[in-house]
Amino acid sequence: MSAMVHSDPELLHESALQETELGDAETLVREAGWNQVADDWRIFLELGMVYAVRNSARRVVATAAVLLYSGRFAWISMVLVASDYRRQGLATRLLRRCVSDLVARGLVPVVDATPAGRTVYTGLGFQDRWGFQRYSAPFVRPDGVALSTSGDVLIRPINDDDWSLLCRYDAHAFGADRSTLLTRLRGRASGAEFAAWRGRRILGFVLGRNGRSAMQLGPLTADEHTTALALLERALAGTHGPIYIDVADSKSALRRWLQDRGFAPQRPFMRMVHGSVVEFGDVARTMAVAGPELG
Ligand SMILES: CC(C)(COP(=O)(O)OP(=O)(O)OC[C@H]1O[C@@H](n2cnc3c(N)ncnc32)[C@H](O)[C@@H]1OP(=O)(O)O)[C@@H](O)C(=O)NCCC(=O)NCCS
Repeated sequence: MSAMVHSDPELLHESALQETELGDAETLVREAGWNQVADDWRIFLELGMVYAVRNSARRVVATAAVLLYSGRFAWISMVLVASDYRRQGLATRLLRRCVSDLVARGLVPVVDATPAGRTVYTGLGFQDRWGFQRYSAPFVRPDGVALSTSGDVLIRPINDDDWSLLCRYDAHAFGADRSTLLTRLRGRASGAEFAAWRGRRILGFVLGRNGRSAMQLGPLTADEHTTALALLERALAGTHGPIYIDVADSKSALRRWLQDRGFAPQRPFMRMVHGSVVEFGDVARTMAVAGPELG
């Protein structure tokens, strides 16, 4: 396979993934056992950029996507190489292309790496920042015990009037305005979208989205651990079927709480930043990320 790849001139060039190629992109997702659906790819096509490498039959065999976040940093994700084309430098080439584009624009590239991806990115100047773990459950196991927050904290479904405050709250916690992205996620798991309030002050929120194999919950962002649990409890009550949630390693009490409800660790990720390490966001409030492809 290696000789065929290197003699194939099409593989020497990467160019933008087209909407008509989403079927190929979904095949790569399926092969890797990932959770994204066509709506997720459209986020990258419409808010960012996807590079694709094709074989001589014009089938997409490798991808890498970029999302820009408010002029400071950018996410690189959806780094997928079809199994027959691995270990031939395709991921390295796509990463180099994404990184050089971003650095030329003065942006710091960030990735949330799988263990296999991390081996590629470490050699390209990315440094570990902090880890998180995907927890999964085949279904929600309610424990029947209602969680209490302090009396004046109200958990309620997100409505239109909340949206601009919620996006500003997220921007402080995440480190950049990503309201366009959050707007694209909103409504994909309407039963799992909640915010916590004390009067007109927002204390946290949770969103979710449908996926190929499971409903993904996240981001889950909150000032306090107890608020995060109360949000999560409401979100879980509003979902059915398999669930994924990507919890920061530092949130050990949240991880224990999930395990008590039948969640098990599925796979680790490492947040990695390219070049000189910049700090952004408020890790303390980041209970669960939106997902490794989104930050
Ligand atoms: C991870 C992945 C993208 C790597 O793609 P690739 O095109 O095979 O990577 P490259 O050929 O550019 O690898 C460059 C180097 O990284 C390291 N590397 C890549 N894959 C590795 C693996 N599975 N195990 C150990 N080292 C690996 C090697 O040092 C390799 O150099 P070498 O082949 O000369 O030894 C691919 O295996 C894949 O699609 N995996 C499933 C999805 C995934 O995890 N994506 C990463 C998301 S963060």
